[in-house]
Amino acid sequence: MLDKDYRDRVIVALDCSRERARELARDLQGHARWLKVGMTLYYAAGPSIVDEFKALGFKVFLDLKLHDIPHQVQGAARVLAASGADMLTIHAGGGPAMASAAAGALREVRPDDAPILLGVTVLTSMDAATLEQLGVSRPLDDQVGALASMACQAGCDGVVCSPWEAPRIRELLGPDAAIVTPGVRPKGASLDDQSRVMTPSMALQRGASHIVIGRPVTGAQDPVAAFESIVKDMEEELS
Ligand code: C5P
Repeated sequence: MLDKDYRDRVIVALDCSRERARELARDLQGHARWLKVGMTLYYAAGPSIVDEFKALGFKVFLDLKLHDIPHQVQGAARVLAASGADMLTIHAGGGPAMASAAAGALREVRPDDAPILLGVTVLTSMDAATLEQLGVSRPLDDQVGALASMACQAGCDGVVCSPWEAPRIRELLGPDAAIVTPGVRPKGASLDDQSRVMTPSMALQRGASHIVIGRPVTGAQDPVAAFESIVKDMEEELS
């Protein structure tokens, strides 16, 4: 049974300039609880962007997709945990030693409230042909499942995946895993460059714990109204 506090399950992706991100954060204060900072905003704005959003009361998902030797990722995870991030990503393809180094660093720095650590499996920009070029011969779905299981056995709390993959991943990882799905669109919204989308409610029904949504909120004429309408749809459709 899903917790009814759907506001806590929607993560707004701020893929925009620092100025626009600040403006959106101020507008969404008191409405949204989670903001996602990707590498473009993080590299442009610097680590202080996390402080700014934390000071406004948001939880911060730092989607930096760490991937390096375990020692480097351990060091980066320590710094990011200390910065106050609430959710982080690493590439599951970095292997179990890297995932375990990241997980250990988060728990060492924040033993009581370690950030949620997510593994990124196969990027949705990759297809079967790309996997073959990388020397991966098993089917894409199997590769996603294998990387998800490996990452969680090594200490990740869950994965980022498409809502279409969520049912299978939920079955593999069990009820407590975090399953965070982008590729969602409210009914009637523009697809932008997303191709296979689901509504937020469908994604949660199929096993997602959180959804990531960007342009339908950040590009709306009234971002607060767009966010509130997503939460209202979820409340109506999932109750
Ligand atoms: O604007 P939109 O809702 O399409 O934004 C989705 C967010 O989720 C973006 O930050 C994008 O980078 C991220 N994402 C994605 N597809 C993935 C992984 C991440 O759209 N497979």
